[in-house]
Amino acid sequence: MSGRESVQSDCIVAPRQETTEASDLSGETTFVPGPETEAEYRRALGCFGTGVTVVTHMTENGPIAMTANSFASVSLDPPLVLWCAAYRSRRHALFAQARHYAIHVMRDDQLHLARHFARRGHDFSVADWTPNAEGQPVLSDSLASFECVRDAVHPAGDHSIIVGHVLRCSVHPGSGLLFKRGQYGGFSDL
Ligand SMILES: Cc1cc2nc3c(=O)[nH]c(=O)nc-3n(C[C@H](O)[C@H](O)[C@H](O)COP(=O)(O)O)c2cc1C
Repeated sequence: MSGRESVQSDCIVAPRQETTEASDLSGETTFVPGPETEAEYRRALGCFGTGVTVVTHMTENGPIAMTANSFASVSLDPPLVLWCAAYRSRRHALFAQARHYAIHVMRDDQLHLARHFARRGHDFSVADWTPNAEGQPVLSDSLASFECVRDAVHPAGDHSIIVGHVLRCSVHPGSGLLFKRGQYGGFSDL
């Protein structure tokens, strides 16, 4: 990650006696995820650095988008990808019911789009986009885009796992935007 990241120790988890309360000995914390340890659990998950995507969909009332870092490849043949949408999001139902949508991997100079679509999913005034063959909004110049048709939607706790079959894929030159420990950054070689 770039110098924009706050540097903390790596997350190396050794077997320890589990507790329901977060405990901290020698800088190491072990706990059972639950209501009292939600903040610690979020911190543990934040140790896993990810890329950042913006998922778009065309509704009856215009385009919507959501910033998401839960994106993952599922299968190469057939080409399946997933992302997870939180039930608590006001945009959840629109994405969970969507037949077509597009997933865009953000470049490091598209931080403004990631920030914008985390807050204002219906406002496309800041984005260049064109409709694809299925009428879905495809953002210009993302690092990669995956134009999808719904394959499956699985309930999973407080999220839906949305699996898409990739109909079309584009790749552009550039470097990816990354997200780790609640902060955005970039990639640098070791
Ligand atoms: C870096 C980043 C990654 C995110 N990843 C996800 C995600 O994978 N799934 C999700 O449901 N929300 C994710 N969010 C939150 C949504 O982008 C959005 O902020 C949230 O849905 C807001 O709720 P609303 O739709 O009710 O306005 C992410 C936000 C940020 C900043």
